[in-house]
Amino acid sequence: MYRTHTCGELRIGDAGKKVTLAGWVQRTRKFGSMTFIDLRDRYGITQLVLDSDTDLGREFVIQVCGEVVERQSKNPNLPTGDVEIKVEKVNVLNKAQTPPFTIEEVSDGGEDIRAKYRYLDLRRGPLQRALALRHRLAQEVRTYLDAQGFMEIETPYLIKSTPEGARDFVVPSRMNQGQFYALPQSPQTFKQLLMVAGYDRYFQIVRCFRDEDLRADRQPEFTQIDCEMSFVEQEDVLNTFEGMMLTMFRNALGIDIPHPIPRMSWFDAMDKYGSDKPDIRFGMEIHEISDLVKGHGFSVFDNAPYVGAICVGGAAEYTRKQLDELTEWVKRPQVGAKGLIYVRLNSDGGIKSSIDKFYTEEELEKVVRSVGAGKGDLVLCLCGDKRKTQTQLGVLRIEMGNRLGLRDPKVFAPLWVVDFPLLEWDDETSRFYAMHHPFTAPKPEHMELFYSDRKEDLEKVCANAYDFVLNGTELGGGSIRIHQADVQSRMFDVLGISREDAEYKFGFIINAFKYGAPPHGGLAFGFDRLCALFGGQETIRDFIAFPKNNQGRDVMIDSPSRIDDEQLEELNIAIKTE
Ligand code: AMO
Repeated sequence: MYRTHTCGELRIGDAGKKVTLAGWVQRTRKFGSMTFIDLRDRYGITQLVLDSDTDLGREFVIQVCGEVVERQSKNPNLPTGDVEIKVEKVNVLNKAQTPPFTIEEVSDGGEDIRAKYRYLDLRRGPLQRALALRHRLAQEVRTYLDAQGFMEIETPYLIKSTPEGARDFVVPSRMNQGQFYALPQSPQTFKQLLMVAGYDRYFQIVRCFRDEDLRADRQPEFTQIDCEMSFVEQEDVLNTFEGMMLTMFRNALGIDIPHPIPRMSWFDAMDKYGSDKPDIRFGMEIHEISDLVKGHGFSVFDNAPYVGAICVGGAAEYTRKQLDELTEWVKRPQVGAKGLIYVRLNSDGGIKSSIDKFYTEEELEKVVRSVGAGKGDLVLCLCGDKRKTQTQLGVLRIEMGNRLGLRDPKVFAPLWVVDFPLLEWDDETSRFYAMHHPFTAPKPEHMELFYSDRKEDLEKVCANAYDFVLNGTELGGGSIRIHQADVQSRMFDVLGISREDAEYKFGFIINAFKYGAPPHGGLAFGFDRLCALFGGQETIRDFIAFPKNNQGRDVMIDSPSRIDDEQLEELNIAIKTE
């Protein structure tokens, strides 16, 4: 037997027992002829005492036999901190080279070196806890959905392009030269085909692949909790998954989140928060002030189609210098505003503004009152095209929320955003794009508009599409789908996809809809994001055992990499060399 107990198990009640432990040497300290060792495994750390001067390097794998004894100086920070093992026998199971960074709660290694030696980084407590949380959440999902009658069904990875809006990763086929598979951006079409096949309630914890620019909450391969249901309306889907989220919060974190989970229309989200994924942990809502400020000779506002403002509570003491810095901040290309106007309501009630040349104190007071500002508050205004300005105000709002410490990761504010527009017009390509994806159905009451040829009508069509938003992150999204072949064909027409192209790319699904497709709908959650948020983090990387870096590289296995000429030959592929 390699061990009788784990390194996280022994307590004062075990004193006197003879035990065998196995694990890694985390740290060695010498006091005269005595050696103290922290022995670590997945379960914890146990202190060993050897009354000889033993040389065991960091990360050696050892097995020890000895007696559990009460510690003289206890460590209240360790669950095993009341005891230590008086070691009688040490068996070195394997030596280790000195690791390139310390394997402790906080490591001295930089991100790059830890990524290269990911298997060593994964020995550290924070990563072990992150993966344990991921495991727990996956079990909770399976238990909940199984109890609700969902079947877990796998779908293929070597498929054809799925239109989720990113680039595909492609795989060349050796047996069909010159042809390629695409890796799924999601199992969207397959889960709909499973509904046609009568499987009624499907789920899968599934890998998805998208070739897009990476960010803290994006990986080229990531995991979804993907679900689909038949004979349902939006309300059924929302209730089912609201139940799942409540259960997960309760069972994994011991938290009862506010429910029913609030709902907000996409239009309200844009108007009030300048974002389709509002962080509602704090207020600071956007207010339109166009009517109050236009027509007073200030040409910047007079010429703008929209003027909006947010009230930053208690920020009136922002100095001139800080406001100048903030102005530069909103002018950065990532925000894109032309300038920033402020109105400050000092704690003595006096008003100070960057535009007091154009407005009387009474006029400015009206502005201040309309955004709900009181003494000591700061009002920040931006102007321009309506949606663009709202989005900029939304970005500014999040920034001010961060600066004022209003975004506590331990506070959870879930939200359903509903009633999305079906289509999004793009000026550059002069065509409509599906806001969600091309399988999302128009609301039944908007069907007439959907068949109209006028752009203004099509812009008004809404969908029974919904996003699950948590603390300003889009955690999941879905919709009620099109289930009639003719409506699906119309959708491809509206999107400017030719009949031939639609037939070539999606003929299989239009065809399937001709054989009795039930009304259906579903959604998918980003599982990595869910784990990260539950773990109080914004970056998903630590919740994935072997993630890619920002360049999409796995630096540990050094991938992507070149392949042999022989392999290229077999695939009949030549690499251009310049
Ligand atoms: P969507 O494209 O909104 O919907 O994706 C669902 C959820 O997946 C997560 N997500 C990602 N997570 C990490 N890295 C990425 N690159 C990444 N991209 C997306 C997000 C997102 O909310 N087929 C539809 C779902 C449906 O309609 O049922 C779909 O894939 O949390």
